Amino acid sequence: MKTVLEMKGIVKRFPGVVALDGVDFDLKEGEVHALLGENGAGKTTLMNILFGLYKADEGEIRYMGKRAHISSPHDALRMGIGMVQQHFTLVPSFTVAENVALGVKATESVRNIAKKIEEIADFYGLEVDPYAKVWQLSVGERQRVEIIKLLYLGARVVILDEPTAVLTPQETRSLFKAIEKMKGEGTGVIFISHKLNEVMEISDRVTVLKKGKVVGTLPRNELDERKLARMMVGREVVMKVEKSQPKPGEVVLSVEGVHALSDKGHKALNGIDLQVREGEILGIAGVAGNGQRELAEVIAGLREVESGKIYFLDEDITERSVLYRVLKGIAYIPQDRKGVALSPNLTVAENLFLKRKDRKVWFSYDEIFRMAENLIERYDIKTPSPAIPVKYLSGGNMQKVVIAREFELSPKLIIAVHPTRGLDVASMEYVYRSLIKARDEGAAVLLLAGELYEIFNLSDRVGVIYEGEIVGYTSPEPTPENIEKIGLMMAGVRI
Ligand SMILES: Nc1ncnc2c1ncn2[C@@H]1O[C@H](COP(=O)(O)OP(=O)(O)OP(=O)(O)O)[C@@H](O)[C@H]1O
Ligand SMILES: [Mg+2]
Repeated sequence: MKTVLEMKGIVKRFPGVVALDGVDFDLKEGEVHALLGENGAGKTTLMNILFGLYKADEGEIRYMGKRAHISSPHDALRMGIGMVQQHFTLVPSFTVAENVALGVKATESVRNIAKKIEEIADFYGLEVDPYAKVWQLSVGERQRVEIIKLLYLGARVVILDEPTAVLTPQETRSLFKAIEKMKGEGTGVIFISHKLNEVMEISDRVTVLKKGKVVGTLPRNELDERKLARMMVGREVVMKVEKSQPKPGEVVLSVEGVHALSDKGHKALNGIDLQVREGEILGIAGVAGNGQRELAEVIAGLREVESGKIYFLDEDITERSVLYRVLKGIAYIPQDRKGVALSPNLTVAENLFLKRKDRKVWFSYDEIFRMAENLIERYDIKTPSPAIPVKYLSGGNMQKVVIAREFELSPKLIIAVHPTRGLDVASMEYVYRSLIKARDEGAAVLLLAGELYEIFNLSDRVGVIYEGEIVGYTSPEPTPENIEKIGLMMAGVRI
């Protein structure tokens, strides 16, 4: 097959780090080439260069055999290179069709665009309503819009930066089908993911990056998951975490008959009841979109409760403010770290400092920086300095900032939503150990995660959420019978 794209000797330096140190990468027509590597390895940076968001310090890009100068996403798209970024870029107040229209010549009517969107959506199996406003869409739907937009613009190279990190298993299936279709059309796909099983399933070739250098590029048939994990971290990875028997104490959190609405005004929580005790991790399994996010938000105080009560250590906190709950010891690791958990433009130090209980007292910047340096060291946050805006950190390191900040509050209750999403295996182990440590020190942990292995690995008890209710509980034993039981409950069967 023809090589469409070659990147040679790419070097990119940021203040304090060499993000890419002479990287070679190429892509053939109709091929899926996966890019793998630990948090901060340089994957997003390499793709940002290809998409014209960053300029390489050294190296060259050849596209269709010719030297290419890509100095903006506009250039890239015109040539046929499109990227769905790790954090989306659609205009929330516009409709789907209007968002696509932004990239199309002005003479095309929105109605025509909407019609073509429907055709593309049909062909690739990427279901979406062209007239829906983007803010009303789920993340999975927004991602479909981003992909459709690229296909609409005729992209021959599609870059997907951790697309499945925000998808349900079903949405991942349909994305993979769309990728197969793209391959059939000769479109090359660059696929970034931390999920080794996905990489093994969908890719034709895999390139592993480590600290800005290529560890190797291999065809899939010469690889397996263990070998990939070894290439990535340079050591054998044990994903099974060790933990002692739980010693559950008093009830810390009690949710009683809570009803709440989703952003779209649909019923999201339907009289949900649950309790979490001191020293235990309650894992909630479920297909995404069954009220997990809303449950976390009502407990954190970010979403209104229609009816029902929330008790924290026997105190009714249903009507209490977010700040009140923070001060009482409720930590929240939300799903959307860039939008909710962090202030992207503030520095790493400021973000680490945001929730300090004693921040009423006057602190000098020097002190804030010293505290930040201490946390950066203890939580192994990779950043050139505490003084850079947090938005410049890699996805995994942003999550470490959130975790460092929340865990420093010595919380009595931790609500963790997809806490390892987008993290590499080493950081994932780290988060697991941190949650277990907090639990051993007496915290109650409510874990909402999409990945079953995460639920099995961490939880002391497992509840299953379906359409805003807990349909049943089970043990975290990963036996075939228990997995089947959870699967049935996730599909709404009460056992
Ligand atoms: N705009 C920037 N300014 C300063 N440093 C940056 C910037 N963008 C990236 N970096 C640094 O470059 C390195 C590579 O980051 P990059 O985002 O490419 O990693 P990644 O492999 O995509 O990681 P992840 O899996 O966490 O998304 C990191 O050390 C990061 O902090
Ligand atoms: Mg990245």
